[in-house]
Amino acid sequence: MTADPNRYQRSQQLLQRALATIPLGSQTFSKSKTQYPAGISPYFITRGKGCHVWDVDNNEYVDFVNALAAVTLGYGDPDVDAAVRAQLEDGVTFSLPHPVEMQVAEKIVAMVPCAEMVRFGKNGSDATAGAVRIARAHTGRDHVAVCGYHGWQDWYIGATTRNKGVPKATQELTHLFSYNNIDSLDMIFRQWPGQVACVIMEPMNIVEPVPGFLEAVRDLTHNNGSILVFDETVTGFRMARGGAQEYFNVTPDLATFGKGLANGYPLSALAGRTDIMRQMEEVFFSFTFGGETLSLAAALATLNKLEVKPVIETLWSQGRKVVEGVKMLIAKHGLETALDIAGKNCWSFLQFQNTETYSLWEIKTFFLQEVFSRGILTIGTHNMSYAHADGDIKRLLAVYDEVFAILREVLEKKNLGTRLKTEPLVPLFKIR
Ligand SMILES: Cc1ncc(COP(=O)(O)O)c(C=O)c1O
Repeated sequence: MTADPNRYQRSQQLLQRALATIPLGSQTFSKSKTQYPAGISPYFITRGKGCHVWDVDNNEYVDFVNALAAVTLGYGDPDVDAAVRAQLEDGVTFSLPHPVEMQVAEKIVAMVPCAEMVRFGKNGSDATAGAVRIARAHTGRDHVAVCGYHGWQDWYIGATTRNKGVPKATQELTHLFSYNNIDSLDMIFRQWPGQVACVIMEPMNIVEPVPGFLEAVRDLTHNNGSILVFDETVTGFRMARGGAQEYFNVTPDLATFGKGLANGYPLSALAGRTDIMRQMEEVFFSFTFGGETLSLAAALATLNKLEVKPVIETLWSQGRKVVEGVKMLIAKHGLETALDIAGKNCWSFLQFQNTETYSLWEIKTFFLQEVFSRGILTIGTHNMSYAHADGDIKRLLAVYDEVFAILREVLEKKNLGTRLKTEPLVPLFKIR
């Protein structure tokens, strides 16, 4: 397929304009030009319905990014939007709390195993930062052990390669351990005896937990007098109604939620044991928009829908078709050395590997060029939504079939350099 040279014309123009007033041209790193290669990518979306979105050049896509996994029911879900419209009639933010706060809190307590009390934030980072602060307050300890991605705040990002601007003193309190490697966590406890306030981790992202790993983390954490926090920003309300903690049957002391809570409306939550959550009565965790009602009404409608419709079941069953289809296509095109698929069916990852000739970044960039031009929006993940119908999955697999055939040819002929119409992405900062 010869790409239409004007396909992203307006995206390109608007990006240039945005860059004059907005650093990186985007509010979110993962939606910026760092992830979407110049000239072969859309940069702005104007509308979405179900799992379909339209960019500023009016190109249509089946979206497998789904607002970075925040949209679990689909864009413009009628039940959620009706709840938001009804709330809008009454008002958005008031001078005192609105009862919808407690309604959503009660719902979360009913659904999530560890949840006895709940506080709300706007982004996942609010909830993770709140979790760490109350864990520190509760234990009187400063150090933190982490595994996974936990947002933009100093306490976490300081321990990554994106640590510019974070004081060294803060960086030194956060220690990374490796998933499925209990010894790496044990080493942190040994190095900082009696000083680790909490262990905060994504219960799962790309890799499956080996049997007993999550239980071992829980036990080691508790044996060291520390608090276990599951960061369920993505897994919550996706893997199971009660999150990954219900799915894996390992209950943490605290858990954080975000993305799937309100179908794209800005809301996050920190939930957990009453004795720890009561620290919030002294610890300062307070913001003007914490009780904003439109997002809370959206959350209530989303969580209700999870109970009355087979949402979670559908994320898994449709995701399974994706994962099995992709596996089959990787084998069909003999691309095992360049591609792999991992994760759970409801949240899977196409993984790119270095080959003898090309880096994974070159291969990924070429893949993006080809799938974007065919109307599939993915940056490697398949963040399933309730709106993905069979036809959408068929379309994804038909595009992958074409693109994998081209990729195989390019790898064999070693002509990726001439077929790639942009500079390859660079490994700036890999979240996972
Ligand atoms: C597991 C996890 N924790 C925390 C965050 C931070 O959430 P937010 O970007 O809403 O602050 C993210 C965001 O991608 C995440 O995936």
